[in-house]
Amino acid sequence: MFNAKIKEISEKFVVDIGSADTKEMLKEIHSSLLGKKGIITDLLKEMAYLDVEAKKEHGKLINILKTTCENAMGIRQKEIEEVLLLKEFESGKVDITLPSRMPLSGNIHILTQVEEEIISIFQNMGFIPVDGNEIEDDYHNFEALNIPSYHPARDSHDTLFIDDKYLLRTHTSGMQVRIMKETSPPIAALSPGKCVRHDAVDAKHSPVFHQIEGFLVDKHITFGDLKGCLEHFCKKMFGEKTSIRLRPDYFPFVEPGADISASCIICNGEGCKTCGYEGWIEILGCGMIHPKVFEHAGYDPYLYSGFAFGLGIERVAMIKYGVPDIRMFYENDIEFLSQF
Ligand code: PHE
Repeated sequence: MFNAKIKEISEKFVVDIGSADTKEMLKEIHSSLLGKKGIITDLLKEMAYLDVEAKKEHGKLINILKTTCENAMGIRQKEIEEVLLLKEFESGKVDITLPSRMPLSGNIHILTQVEEEIISIFQNMGFIPVDGNEIEDDYHNFEALNIPSYHPARDSHDTLFIDDKYLLRTHTSGMQVRIMKETSPPIAALSPGKCVRHDAVDAKHSPVFHQIEGFLVDKHITFGDLKGCLEHFCKKMFGEKTSIRLRPDYFPFVEPGADISASCIICNGEGCKTCGYEGWIEILGCGMIHPKVFEHAGYDPYLYSGFAFGLGIERVAMIKYGVPDIRMFYENDIEFLSQF
């Protein structure tokens, strides 16, 4: 008996579904079948009074009814949609002459763009870029730069040692002696890349960051050459109005050593939030190459002289584009990165 009842319901619904012309009609049929007050809900309620065997049998039949109707509704839904689409085409609502959506395209990361810009400014002055070693040995990272194992300057360069000899480089200066040994003066070289230090993360520090090392060696190179070269760089990078300030600083591999600040590009040196109301922003460390470094490279310090500098790529990018927090470069926020 139940079987015949299900069959009857199923036949009726399949006919109703097939003759539904709109999505709304289909929706109505759907709720009269599967809704809270729908036929299937009623059939399920009726089952409460049956014994286990009959419950099984009825359950099966109700499921068949449900899938038959659902399939029929799925097919009809597609047919209705196709008819609608066809009507839209015919009435000209769909403009097939509209250009398609362009696929999203990526762009070069801002740090790479800034790195390339810095390199090209120095290349125009004759510097040649050289790839460096991200895993450096203790000798080139420290010893050859006049930082022996007992030197306190090592403390500020705490990093990850791979074994007793190798470490993740703490600066790009390790390339100085490597390049000097491979070639001979006159040399004007640049070496960009990743560096690692045991620095706590904050708005200005990241344990992984990028530097560009630059150095020049020849006969009769003076501190005046260093100043002229780096002033030219700052003007090209931050604008012709930029001026520079040199202050004495200490790095074991240069003598004398200095840090260079550029006049703040936001306030032109007047003092604002970006420059901490100083008017100046520190951008690099530099100095005249120490005789001990020349000795490690096998050069006669009485014959040759030279200067070296190391600048932070993130630092330059933050100043140039007013980026307030170094972490923004690494968070891979598309909104942020696609601005550049
Ligand atoms: N290597 C130094 C640092 O990372 C920067 C520097 C490079 C200073 C060359 C002087 C000369 O702090």
